[in-house]
Amino acid sequence: MNSRPIFIASHHRVVVLTGAGISAESGIRTFRDAGGLWENHRIEEVASPEGWAADPGNVWRFYSARRAQARECVPNAAHRALADLESKLGERLELITQNVDDLHERGGSNRVLHMHGQLELSRCEDTACRTQPFLDSRLYFSTEHIARCTCGARIRPHIVWFGEEPFEMRRIKAAVLRCDLFVVVGTSGAVYPAAGLVNLITSRRHDGSTAKAIYVGPEPPLNASSFQEIRLGTACEIVPTLFDCRRSLRDRNGPYESFTE
Ligand code: APR
Repeated sequence: MNSRPIFIASHHRVVVLTGAGISAESGIRTFRDAGGLWENHRIEEVASPEGWAADPGNVWRFYSARRAQARECVPNAAHRALADLESKLGERLELITQNVDDLHERGGSNRVLHMHGQLELSRCEDTACRTQPFLDSRLYFSTEHIARCTCGARIRPHIVWFGEEPFEMRRIKAAVLRCDLFVVVGTSGAVYPAAGLVNLITSRRHDGSTAKAIYVGPEPPLNASSFQEIRLGTACEIVPTLFDCRRSLRDRNGPYESFTE
């Protein structure tokens, strides 16, 4: 299995998309692995607008438990490695996550795009209300105790439920289309549009350069065939040594992966 660091040149743009797998080694359960969240929760009951309409207290119990649990967890070496990559690449790195925990931020990343929302934020359930999502540390365990917005509507988790449109998709697609390297870490490839982003990586782009898509995880994802390379292993095993951003290939001795001419 290829374990050579990937050489990132000074002009390369990188997009990293993370899924629940990057937080697994921090103790946050994934969804579809053995013992995952969807083993003892029905998606339609706790992560859909229909579930919210039927029993908002049940939805809040699910997210309050996750909100409380995430606080007990700490970032791992993979989160910190991506924060280090951001410190070297700056705006040339777009870190997109399907995760709703804040471990990327607590691991040092400042520019994180949460396409499925954030556990630490709540918002008004009324889409016509102008109240912005807000930091909310409260835990709710029954419908009666759900807070109300100033407009009178209920406060809901700032999470993208099944059937709702993920956030910032225009910006995400633009970033993937113009990147030189697309690295996906720890996601089963079961949920779209996130799982379809890799298909935007055309092998040869308009300027003749090539882009590359690499998957990192302990098992191939459902969309494995869309990647040029699969690196099998956990996020903490692979991500900390995955990137090398020194000035040029000449500055190093030893084998490095160069994905462009
Ligand atoms: N390191 C890297 N990857 C791991 C690790 C690890 N230590 N442990 C597990 N994985 C991988 C699994 O192999 C699996 O492919 O993480 C992936 C987790 O897949 P899912 O549980 O399906 O999570 P994810 O792909 O992030 O789910 C996508 O579905 O339920 C919705 O909105 C929710 O954002 C979520 C979306």
